[in-house]
This record gives sequence, C-alpha cells and structure tokens, in this order.
Amino acid sequence: MTLRPLLLSPNAKWILNLVMALPLAWLVWAVFNDALGANPAEALSRSTGDWTLRFLVLVLAVTPLRLITRTPELIRFRRSIGLAAFFYGCLHLLCYAWFDQNLDMADIAKDLVKRPFIWLGMLCFVLMLPLALTSSNAAIRWLGGKRWLQLHKLVYALPLFALLHFYWMRAGKNNFAEVWVYAFIFGVLLGYRVWRLIRSRRLEKQNHL
Ligand code: HEM
Repeated sequence: MTLRPLLLSPNAKWILNLVMALPLAWLVWAVFNDALGANPAEALSRSTGDWTLRFLVLVLAVTPLRLITRTPELIRFRRSIGLAAFFYGCLHLLCYAWFDQNLDMADIAKDLVKRPFIWLGMLCFVLMLPLALTSSNAAIRWLGGKRWLQLHKLVYALPLFALLHFYWMRAGKNNFAEVWVYAFIFGVLLGYRVWRLIRSRRLEKQNHL
C-alpha cells in the first residue's frame, strides 16, 4: 500500500492542521477541567515550549524524510508545520509575558537582562518571526526565490539557540535528560544535511576533473 494518494489528497493539509491543533485543544480542555496540576501557569508555559520544540524537530525532519523515502509530496506540509511551530512559540511567549510578568513590559525588559535563558528564548522568537512572516507565496514572489532561500536558512540556527534556551532553563534544576535527547535528534537532522552537502560538493569536483 502506498501513502501517496493520501499525501496528495486536498484534505491532507486540513487533517494535518487538525492533528497539530490537538495539543492546544488538550491544553484548553485541561485549563477548564483543572487538569494542569498544582501550578497551571508553569504547566502551560512548559507545555507550549515543548510543543514549539517538537514542531521545530518535525519541520526539520521533512527534507530528510522526503529524500530518504523518495516522497517529494511531503514538501506540501512543511509550511504548515513551520507555522505550527511559530504558533506554539507565540503561545509560549504569551504564557511567559502574561503569567510570569503580568504583561509588564518594563519587567520583561529587566528579566531579559537578568536571565540569559530568557533572552535566548526571545532570540529564538525573533529568528522565527521573519520566517513566519515570509511563509506565504506572495512573500516568496516579493523576495525572489534566491533571497527567500537565503533568509530561510535562519531555520538552521534555531535548534542551536532553542537548545541553549532549554539547557539554561534546565540548568537550575540539574535535569538535562530531555535536552540531550533533543540535541541528538537535531544533530542527526542537521548532520544529514551537512553530509549531503559534502557529498554533492565532492561529486561536483569529480565531474569537473
Ligand atoms: C520560540 C522559540 C522557543 C522555544 C523552542 C522554547 C522552548 C522551551 C522549552 C523546551 C522549555 C522547557 C519546557 C520544559 O521544561 O518542559 C522552555 C521553557 C521556558 N521558556 Fe521557552 N522557548 C522559546 C521561546 C521563548 C521565549 C520567547 C520566552 C520568553 C521571552 C521563553 C520563556 C520560557 C520560560 C519562562 C520557560 C520556563 C517555563 C517555566 O518553567 O515555567 N521561551 N522553552
């Protein structure tokens, strides 16, 4: 059985969007049913941070999966997954600004200076912003393909800063197990790209000889 007809179906994107909205639906349900534990604000902040990171993993997994499984159709889903990462990143930032800082901009500015993991998180958000804003077809036309591709290389810097943000946040608790798991996954996803780049350069050189 092949997955291709399903991947090509016009409903596939809607199904994916619905699936990606499930964590949000669960969080909303949990808020109204008192199911977030003793510290709901912290649970919301953490969960939205975790989902931002998970969608970042998924968006970076699209190209390796597409190439390894020879399924070019997977590219159709990359934009939606990237936007989901941005959406959960916005919720995460909102949770922090609202629950931690009472939406007080002066306090947020002070916290940015005081806690390195906060400015690393903010840096991640700032890196995600131009990617999300230029994700539409109109933006691609406006920027031109080459410049758009260059800008979107920012996505490769994101895992590094997101991991540092996560690492620094967990340093206070001396709990790094999940940080290493994500570091390994990002290492594989980015390592695969480096390996392909080196291989294609080598082949190019051989062809010129
Ligand atoms: C957009 C990219 C970001 C990613 C991928 C990200 C990811 C994460 C992750 C994975 C955690 C740990 C969750 C856990 O312990 O299970 C976390 C925690 C946290 N992040 Fe972010 N973050 C991002 C942006 C931000 C921004 C912009 C801020 C605020 C300026 C921020 C503030 C925080 C705070 C305060 C926590 C600790 C939550 C708590 O313990 O209550 N993050 N983040």
